Amino acid sequence: MSFAVRLLRALPAETAHHVTVALIERGVLAGVGRRPMADPRLRQRVWGLDFASPIGLAAGFDKDARIPAAMLDIGFAFVEVGSVTPRPQPGNERPRVFRLPRDRAVINRYGFNSLGHAAMRQRLLVSRGAICARGVLGINLGANKDSADPIADYANGVTSLGPLADFLVVNVSSPNTPGLRDLQARDRFVRLVDAVQGARAEVERAGTLPLLFKVAPDLDAESRRDIAEVAVEKKIDGLVVSNTTIARPDTLRGDHRGQAGGLSGAPLFAPSTAMLREIYERTGGAVPLIGVGGIQSGADAYAKIRAGATLVELYTALIYEGPSLIRRMAGDLARLLARDGFNHVAEAVGRDAGRR
Ligand SMILES: Cc1cc2nc3c(=O)[nH]c(=O)nc-3n(C[C@H](O)[C@H](O)[C@H](O)COP(=O)(O)O)c2cc1C
Repeated sequence: MSFAVRLLRALPAETAHHVTVALIERGVLAGVGRRPMADPRLRQRVWGLDFASPIGLAAGFDKDARIPAAMLDIGFAFVEVGSVTPRPQPGNERPRVFRLPRDRAVINRYGFNSLGHAAMRQRLLVSRGAICARGVLGINLGANKDSADPIADYANGVTSLGPLADFLVVNVSSPNTPGLRDLQARDRFVRLVDAVQGARAEVERAGTLPLLFKVAPDLDAESRRDIAEVAVEKKIDGLVVSNTTIARPDTLRGDHRGQAGGLSGAPLFAPSTAMLREIYERTGGAVPLIGVGGIQSGADAYAKIRAGATLVELYTALIYEGPSLIRRMAGDLARLLARDGFNHVAEAVGRDAGRR
């Protein structure tokens, strides 16, 4: 663990995050490892977008799009900013994020603290050029806590932020906004998909704006099947599998394991990867998947890819390992692909999945 990471660990989790983002905003990571020449094995074209590697930053780290270009500079090929809500909202009371170091995990119940669409638009209008030059930008959309019509909130996000994004993610899986996850129930999910795809048709780049949905790892078997079926039927561009879990595995040892919220990090790896594999099998590989949950190494990223992920993302491991992790992971992933005789990452996608 680097000195800086140890120092930040001495601060309360949310304060450490604010300090980190403020330092990165002031250029403290510049040169920590400028963007590498990514191994050609790692390159992919997905949704017509060029990804230098399959490794991206998961939503929640840069909720207000303060530092996407800097995060691309440390080696992420893409960054998902947000979740962003239409109107600004403060989120839940503090403390609302807890480290479980012994478990390499975090529990958070931020509840979509967000500066809102307009503030994100302003920022991205300024930084879009710098981001474009470095990689791919995803924007993750949320709904306001007091919204009378959450589906309209998402549709609104598509029209207001779609023009500034390379891809959009509709996040219906945060455990920290009451009722939000009910949008994953089949009927409501179909209505949501129709509404946001309808909104996309009004955006100028409609034909080239991928619209993804981020799902929870806690869905029961019927809901998992429904989501996969609807994804194929409605030609959804992709699914992000998965968000944090409300489950608390017996193995947890951290003092904060009883806190309410979503659990992320190492304990999420196995359940989120099992779900990823299932969704890959149920969709017959027809829907590109972003695998998220507990990735801490190149080997973990490789396992997600073999389970069916076209791309992967992480957040929690950054807290414990610091930014040098990303470069290391990309190198290790390229080596693992070479070891197994793959000339290209796309060849490994879904290799461990079966048929259903
Ligand atoms: C502190 C924190 C805040 C998060 N905020 C969001 C968010 O706003 N929107 C979202 O879709 N996911 C959010 N997530 C979930 C992550 O994007 C990711 O799906 C999850 O943490 C699993 O990946 P990990 O184990 O690599 O962290 C958050 C995660 C953490 C740890």
